[in-house]
Amino acid sequence: MAPTFHTLKISKIEDLTSDAKAISFVPDARLNGAYQFVPGQYLTLRADIDGKDTRRSYSISSPVGTNELTVGIRHVDEGVFSSFAMNDLSVGQDLQVMTPDGRFTANVGDVKDALLIAAGSGITPMMSIAQSLLEGDEEAKVTLVYGNRETSSIMFREQLEFLKDRYMDRFTLIHLLSREDQDVPILNGRIDGEKVKSLTKTGAIDPASSDGIFVCGPEEMINVVRTTCEEMGVEKSKIHFELFTPADGQKPRKAPTKEMLEAAEQGVLVEIILDGTKRSFKLTDANESVLEAANKHGLELPFSCKGGMCCTCRCKVAKGSAEMAVNYSLEPWEIEAGFTLACQARPTSDNLTLDFDET
Ligand code: FES
Repeated sequence: MAPTFHTLKISKIEDLTSDAKAISFVPDARLNGAYQFVPGQYLTLRADIDGKDTRRSYSISSPVGTNELTVGIRHVDEGVFSSFAMNDLSVGQDLQVMTPDGRFTANVGDVKDALLIAAGSGITPMMSIAQSLLEGDEEAKVTLVYGNRETSSIMFREQLEFLKDRYMDRFTLIHLLSREDQDVPILNGRIDGEKVKSLTKTGAIDPASSDGIFVCGPEEMINVVRTTCEEMGVEKSKIHFELFTPADGQKPRKAPTKEMLEAAEQGVLVEIILDGTKRSFKLTDANESVLEAANKHGLELPFSCKGGMCCTCRCKVAKGSAEMAVNYSLEPWEIEAGFTLACQARPTSDNLTLDFDET
């Protein structure tokens, strides 16, 4: 089943820091489990802001098994949705919320020794992963390295302290601060390759023995942590990461290739298979992604970031061919197996069938 929007009522809003809030929803029991999630997944929130359909994905911080879903939202400069969330939402208000999605996940029982590395608002999915693993599996151990500028910018600070007290033997919490001195010098500074190495050397973390390393934060930090862990001999498959904003921002889309231009000039017959239904339209503009063209023709395809990062628009090329402008989320094996991102795909053949039901 493709991710679907439902109207949910905001049940709670709490300040996490001066520029971040936790926003909670309790899905109606009649939605029948549609909002069950795996730790690490996100919700896409949708609102009409200044006449524009605006969507943003925010990770769930709640542990599995609770009926209240909470997301953490930090204000971003010039962030349209985050400004709206900070200023215009109130308890009791209805909001369009997509069913949980995302593949940055840690299943309880599968991960026994988790190393979580987060910076800033990258902590949100880690809250869900840490609590779920610790609560759901008494053998699970979790080490969390959390980087911030200063104490006041730490999101979920109280909940983290609570977890530390509650699971003293199984939860290790390491706060790194880049703009506030702490007594222990190793805890000062940003998360980078050197920091990962020095924390490993002192025995504070042990990437090689972890069976799941989860990294969430800015792209630069993710890349350097991944590379350092791989250099230390950690298998690639054990390292998971979540990216919401690429380091170079959203680049302007490249000019269409010759194949794209030729295909669009003839008019590409695009067929969409979604929830067992087949619909089609003609794509005639080589600059448009399939998602944009589908939207113009009144087809509601699942999407969130429109930037190749969230994977909400993942589908399989069942017929024809298409090329993606950027891809920050599909794995090499998925591309090989024919998967694409509808928000990035432009047809290079005169017909194209995208199957959203294929997983
Ligand atoms: S909508 Fe996010 S990757 Fe396409």
